[in-house]
Amino acid sequence: MLVTRQPVLRRFWYATLPLHQLEQGPRSFRLLGVPLVLWLDSLGRPAALRDRCCHRTARLSKGFVENGHIVCGYHGWTYDTCGRCVRIPQNELGAVPDSARVDAFACEARYGYAWVALEQPLAPIPEFEEDSRPGFRRILQFHETWATSPLRFMENAFDNSHFSFVHRSNFGIQEQPRPSPYDIRESGDGFSAHTVVRIRNPESSHRVTGSAEPYTERQLHNRWWLPFVRRFGCVYAPSGRHHIIYNCATPIDDEHISLAQWLYRDDTEDDCSAVELIAWDRPIVDEDRDILEATDPDAALDLQRRTEQHMASDRPGLLMRKRLLALLREHGESESHRQTSAG
Ligand code: FES
Ligand SMILES: [Fe+2]
Repeated sequence: MLVTRQPVLRRFWYATLPLHQLEQGPRSFRLLGVPLVLWLDSLGRPAALRDRCCHRTARLSKGFVENGHIVCGYHGWTYDTCGRCVRIPQNELGAVPDSARVDAFACEARYGYAWVALEQPLAPIPEFEEDSRPGFRRILQFHETWATSPLRFMENAFDNSHFSFVHRSNFGIQEQPRPSPYDIRESGDGFSAHTVVRIRNPESSHRVTGSAEPYTERQLHNRWWLPFVRRFGCVYAPSGRHHIIYNCATPIDDEHISLAQWLYRDDTEDDCSAVELIAWDRPIVDEDRDILEATDPDAALDLQRRTEQHMASDRPGLLMRKRLLALLREHGESESHRQTSAG
């Protein structure tokens, strides 16, 4: 799926940059092929404009912030958060023509990130329930660029059969390749998917899982929100320790995503520190990244299954494709997938 050719995808919220990065000054970000500049206004709220000055096209992200406005680093034209030019330093009496403006986009602070929607959103930012739940701490685990498509990331997130292979040197059990079935419940904005997965529990995992047994269970209460946000709602049994991950696979362009990963835990720093938890998840995430970057990002929405075969167990992946295609069709998109000559 070429995400930049699907206009409806512009009508969702995406996590872009961690807010703490914006505290250092304006930053550039590319969302669905659109270059953005993000910064914090005088009240500390994030703002997003097209990263292109309307004077001589310089990238505004090369500029600086003054009194909550973004100032172009070339000749100092200054813009407010609505994209209106409020100052042209070279003009006498400060005259600014009405036409001096750049595109502005909806931008909200949530869960430590600046979220952006390029057009009127069809749905609110998904609710991360643990973010406001007492006893949980939020850890911003990863923020990085992957050379894959957001749908590839999402289908992998619900594909438990990859554990036995991609993660065989970690928690996966290679002798147990058949995934436990999901109980799936659809909703207007996606679905929930519940299952229980048995995993290996090497000593390096004991403080994470809260168990010293050689095997433990993941009780998974997962969730998918259209188009590219997911919850990995893991409760380890028998310890009862919660290890809740949220991801937003933000489409940068047709070949890259910006992956944001949050972790919520209901234990303390003494039980398992944030540094340990990031270090523990790092190789797992790298294993997923390595295999996803070795797939074709552009074949994932081919409903005819002409370019790839699917496992009977992959109900979440099939449902995801069905819902995404319905969304694209409902909104009259021009191109839903590429038919390859091998099809
Ligand atoms: S290009 Fe931005 S002020 Fe001239
Ligand atoms: Fe994985």
